[in-house]
Amino acid sequence: MSGIEINSVLTENRLFEPSAEFTAKARIKSDDLKALYQQAEEDYEGFWANQAKQHIDWHTPFTRTLDDSQAPYFKWFTDGSMNVSYNCIDRHLENKAEKTAIIFEGEGGDVQHISYQQLHDDVCRFANALKIKGIQKGDRVVIYMPMVPEAVVAMQACARIGAIHSVVFGGFSAESLRDRIEDAQAVMLITADGGTRGGKIVELKEAADKALNNGCDSIKHVIVLKRSGQKINMQDNRDTWWSDAVADQSTTCIPEWVNAEDPLFLLYTSGSTGKPKGIQHSSAGYLLNAIITNLWVFDLQDHDIFWCTADVGWITGHTYVAYGPLAAGATIVMYEGAPVIPDAGRFWKMCEQHKVTIFYTAPTAIRALMKFGDDLPNQYDLSSIRLLGTVGEPINPEAWMWYHTVIGKEHCPIVDTWWQTETGANVLTPIPGVTATKPGSCTLALPGMDVDVVNEEGESITEANTGGYLVIKKPWPSMLRTIWGDDQRYIDTYFPKFDGKYYLAGDSARRDEDGYFWIMGRIDDVLNVAGHRLGTMEVESALVANSAVVEAAVVGRPHDVKGEAIVAFVICKGDRPVGEEAEKMAADLRNWVGEQIGPIAKPDDIRFADGLPKTRSGKIMRRLLRTIAAGEEITSDTSTLENEAVVAQLQGEA
Ligand code: WT7
Repeated sequence: MSGIEINSVLTENRLFEPSAEFTAKARIKSDDLKALYQQAEEDYEGFWANQAKQHIDWHTPFTRTLDDSQAPYFKWFTDGSMNVSYNCIDRHLENKAEKTAIIFEGEGGDVQHISYQQLHDDVCRFANALKIKGIQKGDRVVIYMPMVPEAVVAMQACARIGAIHSVVFGGFSAESLRDRIEDAQAVMLITADGGTRGGKIVELKEAADKALNNGCDSIKHVIVLKRSGQKINMQDNRDTWWSDAVADQSTTCIPEWVNAEDPLFLLYTSGSTGKPKGIQHSSAGYLLNAIITNLWVFDLQDHDIFWCTADVGWITGHTYVAYGPLAAGATIVMYEGAPVIPDAGRFWKMCEQHKVTIFYTAPTAIRALMKFGDDLPNQYDLSSIRLLGTVGEPINPEAWMWYHTVIGKEHCPIVDTWWQTETGANVLTPIPGVTATKPGSCTLALPGMDVDVVNEEGESITEANTGGYLVIKKPWPSMLRTIWGDDQRYIDTYFPKFDGKYYLAGDSARRDEDGYFWIMGRIDDVLNVAGHRLGTMEVESALVANSAVVEAAVVGRPHDVKGEAIVAFVICKGDRPVGEEAEKMAADLRNWVGEQIGPIAKPDDIRFADGLPKTRSGKIMRRLLRTIAAGEEITSDTSTLENEAVVAQLQGEA
């Protein structure tokens, strides 16, 4: 098994019990949790049926809970119909029409409060605009937007008419956008002139034009939100300004009652091949886990102000920004910009200003902000915060303790939530009023989630602290349904072992003496850079697409802020570049990868050699490359290598 083992050195094994004060007011108390586990244990389908009846407003109630006749293509609530947007908005209008749904802050400090009524009206007008453009149920619509309320409006409008959205993170390049549009055969693109991040304008429309001028023949319409105000090109008969598109539209749009299993969205994520895969989610099953985790894990209550800092371009921004909290009737915070503008106190300033009660972010952000010391957070009144969360990668105990003491003032539970784009919602996580936490552990599985660590044979590993494959043994409502357009890849990726019986998460993990889960790292060639997933092959494909490059191998190396940094070993055409030439080539290739994938994929370090270290059978020795990348001493015997001399070159010593 390969992969990082961030948690292997455990410095804290203390238990942190939730405070009596938190527990007293929490939604889920110890007895509630026990009852939920017991119901799931005694009658798995009955448990999920009850949850689905309790939390979703159905148009046609379902009578069948789980259809496993075509396992592992599982279906849930198959004869029910509903609408996600109705469940997120309309059902709150009777009692909460004037409640704030979204508090938005732009990087420049502009603030908007959007009520549920206003959100409803905006979504309906935009949904009607989509219909006028001919968008129908099942059509794919790509959303390439900054982190502004209109991104949520666009997603909800698609959901309202049964169109399938695919949000592409605004930090992805034109090339990445084009690949995703083409794979999904999308008919519409929704974008903006530009977004603002880190004081710079992100040229979204320009990138979109580049993508559309290079293929993407399926796109018939582009809707463009005016946000940054810079000059852009608008193409006649294809491009429409958002404001024009909604100008004459009614604020009523009857929701399309879709089947529970109709796809709500696709979201592309990296795997172990060069090509990202379109993870396909359902409507009702997805929404169900989104709702219950917002209630159980984030303890969402009527007075809460929930700020999940994720961009809507990632699954976290779907489940804990655009859908889950709204379906639960909460108030969310959205922020357009970077955490360090004007300084690294921005998050804390916003927590004070908007009286944030629940704050959910990534360990990489915590580590980055921790570096600026305690003075910045200490300048602000963080007393409104009552619950903290993390997601995306293992959190090192040092960052956990800082979050706990400096941000949480030692009274806020921290929920370390393990999950994936594919799982749709939190899977392993504490229940804040009940579960005692240990820094670095995502603790236990939620009720209804049958998670285990198994060996090569698929047997449960009962010995404490022994690593194995993290698997989910029973289907759950919000699991991915397939990979868009590639059913076989769904099976090959997620059910390749154990007779196809268990969902293979792709992570290695261990359980400690209390049964707590500790994530150890990926088992495939997937990197986790600042909480974002990137395939090593994806970066390699981008590198070899450059005409100067013959061969490339990419590995991760531990990085104290980003978790992992990208190191690329590159073989160029002709002579190996050295000195200034190597520096220039490295800079060019970094930019190239940025253009091919996006800035997040730019390698931190590029090294050149005459060849890659390979075994006599021609296999690249990735383990050796990881050792070299980490600057560690090579203890294995390299004399069996086909080309031993390159090792010194890659180490930068020759
Ligand atoms: C991978 C999924 C889930 C939303 C963000 C990332 C890693 C995620 C944790 C955690 C340790 C974690 C896993 C997982 N991961 N959360 N709490 N502790 N590792 O979603 O891009 O689909 O990545 O992120 O390796 O497989 P994603």
